[in-house]
Amino acid sequence: MRSGRFKKGMAENMRSLNASISFDKRLYREDIEASKVWARGLSRLGFISAAELDEICSGLDKVAAEIESGSFSFSEELEDIHMNVEARLSELIAEAGAKLHTGRSRNDQVATDFRLYLKRAAGEAAEAVGRLMKAVAAAAETCQDVVIPAYTHLQRAQPVSFAHHLLAYVEMLDRDRRRFLWAAEQADSCPLGSGACVGNQFSVDRDKLREELGFGSLTMNSLDAVSDRDFACDFLYAASMLMVHLSRFSEDIILWMTSEFGFARLDDAVTSGSSMLPQKKNPDACELARGKTGRVVGHLIGLLTCLKGLPLSYNKDLQEDKEGVFDTHDTVLGILGVFTTMVETMEIDRARTSGSLEGGYLEALGVADYLTRKGVPFREAHDLSGRCVRRAEELEVSLPSLALEEYQSIHPGFEADLFEAISIEGSLADKDVVGGPAPSQVASQVERWKGNLG
Ligand code: ARG
Repeated sequence: MRSGRFKKGMAENMRSLNASISFDKRLYREDIEASKVWARGLSRLGFISAAELDEICSGLDKVAAEIESGSFSFSEELEDIHMNVEARLSELIAEAGAKLHTGRSRNDQVATDFRLYLKRAAGEAAEAVGRLMKAVAAAAETCQDVVIPAYTHLQRAQPVSFAHHLLAYVEMLDRDRRRFLWAAEQADSCPLGSGACVGNQFSVDRDKLREELGFGSLTMNSLDAVSDRDFACDFLYAASMLMVHLSRFSEDIILWMTSEFGFARLDDAVTSGSSMLPQKKNPDACELARGKTGRVVGHLIGLLTCLKGLPLSYNKDLQEDKEGVFDTHDTVLGILGVFTTMVETMEIDRARTSGSLEGGYLEALGVADYLTRKGVPFREAHDLSGRCVRRAEELEVSLPSLALEEYQSIHPGFEADLFEAISIEGSLADKDVVGGPAPSQVASQVERWKGNLG
C-alpha cells in the first residue's frame, strides 16, 4: 500500500492506532465472498482470464480455510482484513492475486462487507427476539387466571391478569423484531462499484455484482455509498430499543423476585449466589440485561457522534463503526438467549400473587363506577369512593369487607350487588375492550400470538 509513495515506514504507535485487523477480521467471510463476486466482475470485463478467475476463487477459499482453522497469521502492518486477505492471496497466487484490486477500493469494499454482515446480524437478532416472544406468550398462556395489581407510580392501581402484564412485553418485542427486520432492509443495498468515492472507471456491471451478492438494491450515489453508515445506526437503534425493553422487563422481574413481592421464582440455571450470604439467589441475568443496556445505547450514541462532523466522502473516522456494532451483536444475542431460558423456566407463586390483591384498595374505581352506572356524575362518584376508602382505612378493613351500611351512609345508591360488581372477577370481566384485560380479550391475544409466532 505504501509502495512508491513513502520514503519510510509508519511509526510503531501510529501503526497500532491505524490498524483495525484485531476487530475487522470478523468480516473475513463477507470480505472473501465480495472478493469472489468482484473477481467475476473483472473477468466479465476481460481484466482476468477464466483460468485466473478460478485461481483467485480457489485461492480465496484457501484463505478462508486458513482463517477458520486458525493457521492464518494476521498482520497489523497490513492494517485491516481487506489487505490481509489480498496479501495472503498474492502469496498463494502471485500474478492473478495482484489483479484483484483493479477498479476497487477498500472504501467500497468495507461498505459492502459491513452491509453483508449487518443484514445477517439484524436477521439473527430478529429471529432471537421471535424466540423470546414465543417464550413470553407461552408463559402468558399458562397464567391467564393469575391476577395481580396493575401499578402506576409503582403504587397498586387496579387488578389485572398476569398474562396481560406479560403480553405487554410481547407487544414491545414485536416492535423490536420489526425494527431489526427493517434494519436488515436498510443494509440490503449494494455499494460495490463505488470505488474510492467517485465510482468505477471500467463500467463494471454493478447490477450483476448486486445480484450475485444477494442485495435487494443498488446504492445510487458513490459519495454517499462509501460514507453512509446509516444502516449501522439503524441496527444500533433497534438494539438499543430492544435493550431498553429488556431492561424494563428485568426491572419487573427483579421486583417480582424480592421477598416483598414474591410473585415469581427464577430457575437456578439463571440465578447466582452470594460469596458471603448463603440464602441469596440473585437475579443476575436481569441485572446484566439492565446494565448492558447502557453499553448498547452508548454504541448508538458513539456512532452518531462519530458521523456528525464528517465531510463527504470516506474518512478514516468510519473505521470506528465496527467495534460497537460487533459488541452490540454479541450482547443482544447473548442476552436474548439467557432471557428466553429465564422466561421459559420462571415460576409464578400463586399464593403471593393472590395475597397481593388484599390491601391497596384496588376496588376503588369499581366503587365509583358502580355509582356512575346508577347515574351519579363521575366527579361526584370519585369523591364518594374516596370517602369509602377513607372510611375503610379508619376501620382498618378492605373495601370488600366494609359493611354495606357504611357504604350506604356515604351514598344511598349503594346496594348489596356492589360486592359482586367490585369483585376481582367482576372488575376484570368489565374491561372487555380490545386491548383490555378481560379474560376473553386476553385469551384472544394469546391465540393471536400463538398464530403469529407459530
Ligand atoms: N479499515 C478501513 C475501515 O474500516 C477500510 C477502509 C480504508 N480505506 C482507506 N482509504 N484508508 O474503514
